[in-house]
Amino acid sequence: MLFTEVFLNLVARQDFAFRWLRDRSLVHGRAAHLMDFNRRELRTNNYRFCSGHQARYTLAQEAHMPDLAHRAGLEGVIVADTRLSEVDGERGRLVIAGSDVEKLAGNVSFEELAHRLWSLYLPESSPDRLQKNLGEARVRAFALIPGLGNALEARDGMDALRAAVAHLQAPDSAWESTVLVNAATAVFTAAWAAKLQGRQPTPPDSSLGHAADLLRMATGDASPVKAKGLEAYLVVVSDHGMNASTFAARVIASTGSDLVSAVVGAIGALKGPLHGGAPGPVLEMLDNIGQPDRAIQWLEAEINAGRRIMGMGHRIYRVRDPRAAVLEQAVMRLERSGIETPRLKLARAVEEAAEGLLRKRHPDRPLNANVEFYTAVLLDALGFPRTLFSPLFACGRVVGWSAHVAEQRATGRLIRPESRYIGPRPAPA
Ligand code: COA
Repeated sequence: MLFTEVFLNLVARQDFAFRWLRDRSLVHGRAAHLMDFNRRELRTNNYRFCSGHQARYTLAQEAHMPDLAHRAGLEGVIVADTRLSEVDGERGRLVIAGSDVEKLAGNVSFEELAHRLWSLYLPESSPDRLQKNLGEARVRAFALIPGLGNALEARDGMDALRAAVAHLQAPDSAWESTVLVNAATAVFTAAWAAKLQGRQPTPPDSSLGHAADLLRMATGDASPVKAKGLEAYLVVVSDHGMNASTFAARVIASTGSDLVSAVVGAIGALKGPLHGGAPGPVLEMLDNIGQPDRAIQWLEAEINAGRRIMGMGHRIYRVRDPRAAVLEQAVMRLERSGIETPRLKLARAVEEAAEGLLRKRHPDRPLNANVEFYTAVLLDALGFPRTLFSPLFACGRVVGWSAHVAEQRATGRLIRPESRYIGPRPAPA
């Protein structure tokens, strides 16, 4: 028992000492790295959160289960083999279906990208037919709107989308389910946008590409330049390794459940601000800062108050998220085509200031702009209200969710990890 207490004390002190030294810039380079690594290993094994009585249970149980140490947040744990996408966090590289994201954005249509991901597990996928199939499915999904009850009345777009998608009956064929769920996600997002603007939902035009039709239905704008901008966005966010919502979808699929259930669960996971809920708050942050010369002061106050800077940091990337650069370029393309990009200059100044301040605060942990940062700038320039940002993320990511569900079905096994009980135990009889 004495050992337990001494050990926990050491852990707490190590964590405190590291933060103290780091915050005063007294620990650098390899020493900082090693210290942080030790601290994280201990924290990962949950000691940091154990105190007093509970900790004794944890450590006592550890002795009986030495092989079952877990990693908080499953950090660094591989839960599946995938052929869909690869995230290289050290080098800042994202490969989707065999191509670098930089090569895909702006060069490949939504349908082409969907085909590349889906065809790995759904042999019915065909690049020639996909635009037609998706267009017809949007028309079918639109016809379902009167039967959605009050789903689209929800004040939050993700609540509305989750409730609306939950109304779908998954067709028996995996291919038909995939096409319908993807089409419906766009149609219901646009219908919720129409409600927000106090107008009737705009019916789909099945002859258009998916991205162009989504833009037209959601905003009434048919500008080809903007449609290309939205298409680049949807392609960029289509898949991203084992992110939280994809994992949620795969867990649901692993039980043998249907695609609709998996996508409903994934929408719920995407909604959170640590995942897909950040771009709206990024825009609010830019509004609050207002001027580039106010950035440092505003950000410093946030960091000192212990709040996170939205759009910065990532679980995997240790350099700037490559999607941030691709989306920034998409904003620049809009600018060159004469479309106003009112927040680009401010966003760049805020990114630079945030990077500098976070580097000072966390010299051991690179915290750079993530995908959400320039998502906010791009979707704003395309004329979408900020309440629509997360549902639009879902319109892109549903392509990846569908592919992962198909992959899970084809190659996976029931996902059923274990937990470590740290509550009280019954007294011995
Ligand atoms: N602003 C300020 N500090 C941040 C930060 C941010 N955006 N992101 C991480 N940190 C800090 C943490 O507070 C932590 O500090 P500590 O060691 O003193 O406790 C340290 O950096 C490590 O963070 P950790 O909690 O281990 O990171 P994570 O891998 O769990 O988190 C995110 C990754 C994305 C959840 C996190 O960076 C974040 O919350 N970002 C803001 C929300 C966002 O943009 N989400 C969209 C993600 S694509």
